[in-house]
Amino acid sequence: MPVAAGELQRYDAATAHLEPPFAAVDLAALRANAEVMRLRAGGKPIRLVTKSVRCRRLIELVLAMDGFRGLLAFTLPEALWLAAAGTSDDILVAYPTADRAALARLATDAAAAAAVTVMVDCPEHLDMIEKAAAGVAEPHRVRVCIDIDASYQALRGLLRAGARRSPVRTPAEAAALAGAITARPGLRLAGVMAYEGQIAGVGDSPPGRPLYGMAIRYMQRQSRAELARRRAAIIAAVRAVAPLEFVNGGGTGSLEKTAAEAAVTEIGAGSGLYQPRLFDAYRGRHGQPAAFFALPVVRRPGPGAVTALGGGYLASGAPGPSRLPAPYLPAGLRLDRQEGAGEVQTPLLGAAADRLRIGDRVWLRHAKAGELCERFNELHLIEGARVVAAAPTYRGEGKAFL
Ligand SMILES: Cc1ncc(COP(=O)(O)O)c(C=O)c1O
Repeated sequence: MPVAAGELQRYDAATAHLEPPFAAVDLAALRANAEVMRLRAGGKPIRLVTKSVRCRRLIELVLAMDGFRGLLAFTLPEALWLAAAGTSDDILVAYPTADRAALARLATDAAAAAAVTVMVDCPEHLDMIEKAAAGVAEPHRVRVCIDIDASYQALRGLLRAGARRSPVRTPAEAAALAGAITARPGLRLAGVMAYEGQIAGVGDSPPGRPLYGMAIRYMQRQSRAELARRRAAIIAAVRAVAPLEFVNGGGTGSLEKTAAEAAVTEIGAGSGLYQPRLFDAYRGRHGQPAAFFALPVVRRPGPGAVTALGGGYLASGAPGPSRLPAPYLPAGLRLDRQEGAGEVQTPLLGAAADRLRIGDRVWLRHAKAGELCERFNELHLIEGARVVAAAPTYRGEGKAFL
């Protein structure tokens, strides 16, 4: 990822009054990234993935922009909180819930029940919702969305790419679940979702691994073709059972590809706003780094090395070097392979280290988007040469949902 000249001086000057560690977002970069996402979605609305932002102020800012409509939340308590706060009246919870108390709250509250849709992929989910609502006086109908398995499987399931999520894979299975939903008066089928993580979340050009990149691109081509056919058949089969308000698919890494499918009415995406490091591994159009954290240099262990305070902010997922944060500014720093990013101290190696003094700051990028916000109470919003606000993260609002 090329580093824009002058950014280091601008970020250092804008945040000179702050003591690192702190996290910051460049608002101009975030706005430019939102516009790139809108264009890539080719006119279909983007449902904003909240886990990839985790800051209410920024969620509201992006929702007010062209091209974005509704939220894809990650837990039901989060969705209830966002609905009550008036952040959105169209919130789809992307993952099934087993939170009986939150389901009861959803069925109790007319405004929440109108705004929030929960995810289901089996009759047990339906039973759980009905049971929670049964304990409520005059429950409201609960809106549900069917989650479809969008993973890629070849050689009779021996080869598999994508998330292990929904057991619903075929048009017949989806239509059967739709029928089970419409047969229950307390539920209302609102939509269908199929998230192809093996395309939307796996970079097709991993740095330094050209052969692996070719294999990924082959898998993604096969998967796209298979999923486009299957998704269209599933949506036709479900629509024959009940009308649908929306069909959600995709993510930041597949915006234009998923949007090209006629069966899909909206894309769920969020990471592209911050453009974390994992999304540098894509060919083609992508955004610019917009979210960072700054650490103070606290020691100089020897030539070509400095040590920064903190930094061990690892991303979730299968463990490996790709989950580590990456030094960003000044350019020319790297992590020490033996130490990685440390719990309390992080050595940074490279020629640029010799120009750093104790008390200087270094800027790093997280591997993923919203997880950065679980480490900081606020995001300092940089506009031009100034910090214009400190926006609380979910964590800063006392909301650690996951
Ligand atoms: C259901 C669902 N939709 C969409 C996305 C894409 O989110 P992003 O654009 O932040 O990668 C994800 C990410 O994991 C997801 O789980």
